[in-house]
Amino acid sequence: EKGGYKHFMLKEIYEQPQAIIDTVSGRINPETGSIELAEMNLSDEDLAGIDRIFLVACGTSWHAALVAKYWIERWAGIPVEVDIASEFRYRKLIINERVLTVAISQSGETADTLAGIRLARKLGSKIVIICNVVGSTMTRIADGTVYTHAGPEIGVASTKAFTSQLAALFLFTLFLAEKRGTMAVEKRLELGRDLIHLAAVIGKLLPVLQGEIQELIENYYDSRDFLFVGRGLNFPIALEGALKLKEISYIHAEGYASGELKHGPIALIDKDMPILGLVPKDAVYQKSISNVEEIKARQGRLILIGTEGDEHLKSITDDVLYLPEVNEELNPILYTIPAQLLAYEIASRRGCDVDQPRNLAKSVTVE
Ligand code: F6R
Repeated sequence: EKGGYKHFMLKEIYEQPQAIIDTVSGRINPETGSIELAEMNLSDEDLAGIDRIFLVACGTSWHAALVAKYWIERWAGIPVEVDIASEFRYRKLIINERVLTVAISQSGETADTLAGIRLARKLGSKIVIICNVVGSTMTRIADGTVYTHAGPEIGVASTKAFTSQLAALFLFTLFLAEKRGTMAVEKRLELGRDLIHLAAVIGKLLPVLQGEIQELIENYYDSRDFLFVGRGLNFPIALEGALKLKEISYIHAEGYASGELKHGPIALIDKDMPILGLVPKDAVYQKSISNVEEIKARQGRLILIGTEGDEHLKSITDDVLYLPEVNEELNPILYTIPAQLLAYEIASRRGCDVDQPRNLAKSVTVE
């Protein structure tokens, strides 16, 4: 059942290229670049009337929402608010029929997310669910659904469901951009092709990266704390890396926006504090580099993950992992892979029960 892998989590990490392909396939018309999301069930009129989007989710799914905010605002020009479902429910919501509420949930059963969409619907919002489980409670309540096709996820720590959510949210962004006329057809086709190509890139990368990470973690697996930092699209991936590590290895880990370091957490940095920096060659590269150089100046133990060929990284630290260059919009999907493998390898090295971490359940149906 684990297909030769030691844990479901590792199997599911390796299933990601297929899960992305399955989530994308058949949904981009290769000639017209049209995005076909059959179960969305929103009319062109509904879509034209939307002036704000709320993204609501918990845990890892909330991290997917944070990435989607950057995408939707940039490419479809619609203001997006992102909420943790257990917060969304208990604040004054300014929601009406011009708001589209999108819940993101692997299981489609998470209690707070479910209550959140019931509330939003009462306030007049249309509801769409990004979900992995066909026929789950949320999909039955919603106006429309965009299914991720990750297949069953057994490991408690979410991996392939997350990257499939990102793929689905990217398609959703292209869909909105098409309906709004905010993106040229050629651009849509290009981004669609890049997304499919990314699956192959990840497939090739996985075994190589796993080997490199196994070696790397020998110097890090017994750490007490860990900081993950990233900027822009990769800030949510820093949060996701920290969550994966804490939930399966029980190491205290925090994710931060790189630019926030100097506003507090930099005080934690000394020769015993490991920091993982996500520093792809992207629009905010120079800023990210000066942030990690400040860490180095304070003797922090730095691991950098960046773009193949970026020799500068080696002058900052010995511990560098290189990833291939892909379209920078898709970096959050790519940079999730080393974050997952790092958490997995550290947890295994520490002898933790990777698939069944203490105190956690796969589906949180209590509030
Ligand atoms: C973390 C994890 C959880 C879930 C969260 C939401 O690895 O699995 O944080 O992401 O409980 O679950 P869903 O997506 O089913 O609503």
